[in-house]
Amino acid sequence: MRLRNVSNKEEILKSSPFLIPDGKVYYGKWNPLFKNKNPIHLEIGMGKGNFLIEMAKRNPNINFVGIEKYDSVVARALVKIPEDLTNLYVIRGNANEIEKMFKHEIDVIYLNFSDPWPKARHSLRRLTSPLFLDKYDSLFKGDYHIYQKTDNRDFFCYSLLSLSSKGYILKDISLDLYGENRESVPTEFEVKFHDLGLPIYYVEAIKEK
Ligand SMILES: C[S@@+](CC[C@H](N)C(=O)[O-])C[C@H]1O[C@@H](n2cnc3c(N)ncnc32)[C@H](O)[C@@H]1O
Repeated sequence: MRLRNVSNKEEILKSSPFLIPDGKVYYGKWNPLFKNKNPIHLEIGMGKGNFLIEMAKRNPNINFVGIEKYDSVVARALVKIPEDLTNLYVIRGNANEIEKMFKHEIDVIYLNFSDPWPKARHSLRRLTSPLFLDKYDSLFKGDYHIYQKTDNRDFFCYSLLSLSSKGYILKDISLDLYGENRESVPTEFEVKFHDLGLPIYYVEAIKEK
């Protein structure tokens, strides 16, 4: 992702009520933080937040948490969140440590346009690698439920194989979300790639507990 520095990012990070600077602090305590027992959906690598904010607005009875590793990107998301939204928090942090942040509290994970890490030697950095899928196991409360969207065909094929190898059922697949007129809450990257005329790949994967 191209990163543009946000000059007042420290100020934004310090003053936003939506920022969780260290996700590990709420390990086992996310529902109390939201002050309800509603399901929690997590977007890993949320970027500038368009998808998560729109999902939170449309689904007031679901709690949303996003995690993003770059401060500038986090700051760009935080400034867009409407003040009255009560079902959304943003973690500044790295998904490498995700298993230390949630203790069987998550209902759904979204992986939207995750970095594809095309070189084989970097494959374990992919957010759908067996390494990450193993980490996600301890996040889920009930059945394991992952949604992925990407523009990258090779990464998509890799993800389908990886998910299958870990026992996920590929419940719904699209090789061209927009060509099939499917509904989608778009992310920043989704808009960019769709405008370029590229197909958007999509999978919903489920594994019973
Ligand atoms: C290609 S962008 C996609 C952003 C957004 N999901 C979208 O679809 O527009 C990938 C994002 O994931 C973030 N990211 C990548 N690896 C991450 C990790 N290990 N932990 C947290 N964020 C990560 C990057 O900083 C970047 O903002």
